[in-house]
Amino acid sequence: MKPLLVLNALFTAACAVSNAEEMQTQERLFITSLGLSARPSPAAGPRQERRVPAALWQMFRRSRELRGQDSESCLVSEYGVRGNIIRYVQDQGRLVSGWGSSCQGCVEKHLFFNLSVLQPVEELSLARLELQFHWGVFRSPEFFLGPQALGVSLYKVVRATLRGANHEANRRLLLSQSVQLQPEPTSLKLDLTSLAENWRKPGRNYGLVLELQPHSAASEELLPFRPGNSLSMQPTLPEIQASLVAVSLNPHQCRSRRRRSAVHLPVTPSNVCKPRRLYIDFKDVGWQDWIIAPQGYMANYCHGECPFPLSESLNGTNHAILQTLVHSLDPHGTPQPCCVPIRLSPISMLYYDNNDNVVLRHYQDMVVDECGCR
Ligand SMILES: *[C@@H]1O[C@H](CO)[C@@H](O)[C@H](O)[C@H]1NC(C)=O
Ligand SMILES: *[C@@H]1O[C@H](CO)[C@@H](O)[C@H](O)[C@H]1NC(C)=O
Repeated sequence: MKPLLVLNALFTAACAVSNAEEMQTQERLFITSLGLSARPSPAAGPRQERRVPAALWQMFRRSRELRGQDSESCLVSEYGVRGNIIRYVQDQGRLVSGWGSSCQGCVEKHLFFNLSVLQPVEELSLARLELQFHWGVFRSPEFFLGPQALGVSLYKVVRATLRGANHEANRRLLLSQSVQLQPEPTSLKLDLTSLAENWRKPGRNYGLVLELQPHSAASEELLPFRPGNSLSMQPTLPEIQASLVAVSLNPHQCRSRRRRSAVHLPVTPSNVCKPRRLYIDFKDVGWQDWIIAPQGYMANYCHGECPFPLSESLNGTNHAILQTLVHSLDPHGTPQPCCVPIRLSPISMLYYDNNDNVVLRHYQDMVVDECGCR
């Protein structure tokens, strides 16, 4: 049996008949329920684990360790907020200008986070800007000529006009501070939850402007760096990395469930309805390029007879009990009840969305724990 057929059978009833068209529909349903418009084809290529932020990897590993316990699946304890989706939304803004722009001798960077990746149903619990910058010149031999401190200013852009985001009238200061430059990259974190909530409304997201103003720490004097100035030093542009960590909750996908140890299903030969071991490898269904982790998981499936008389262990409904009775009297006219999942549990998945953002999501109903005749 082809894995996709198995996967298909898993997401529908065990009795359902599958064909190629239905398989495509099933794939689409699955992808839609992950909040994706189409199967992502990330530019990063398959399993570029480097690009996955370390914090997300840690959370992913932790969520796997929590298996088998009654995990409150809708609390993200790392951030202390409710949520079942954690995204690292990538910055799509560009470097507005190098040297000598509206602020003298500073570097300006536009930051833009496309928050339409959040589905309308999602409740945004947290949006945190994580900035990291590294001043290349600091590493050069003449580093003592380079900036020792950096004035960091962050503005929100309130309207887009022809005069541009840099104009004072079009922006509001959010943060202004001075940081000492060190050989290591400098990081800054800032809670932007209410601003990001506003960005979700259509046409309201003009992004942010980040200004980096180098100055010498001792004198607080501005260093008028310009390419080709008298010091004949070519100042390097800083490397700026920005991402917005967005934690959100899809309330429809939030049910706390006790995870059974279905991974250790007994391997007893029997053709009565029960969960069977099934490992789904995402490579077999062709999803390895956008699902970062896990590479596969023990999904299991339900299979077996629902014979008359239906014993209690088969978890039949009253209807199923009557159906087996009728089936025993008229085997051709009435089929046996179906052996289907009656208890499922979630797994965590790390994947790329259609905008190449890394997403960690607790995804419901992925593992069959118990079966029943229905
Ligand atoms: C934001 O993302 C949505 C959906 O992914 C896309 O349709 C839209 O064009 C993007 N907007 C911008 C400004 O990039
Ligand atoms: C029926 O449910 C019980 C517990 O509710 C479970 O132990 C048993 O394995 C289930 N039967 C099947 C066929 O999964």
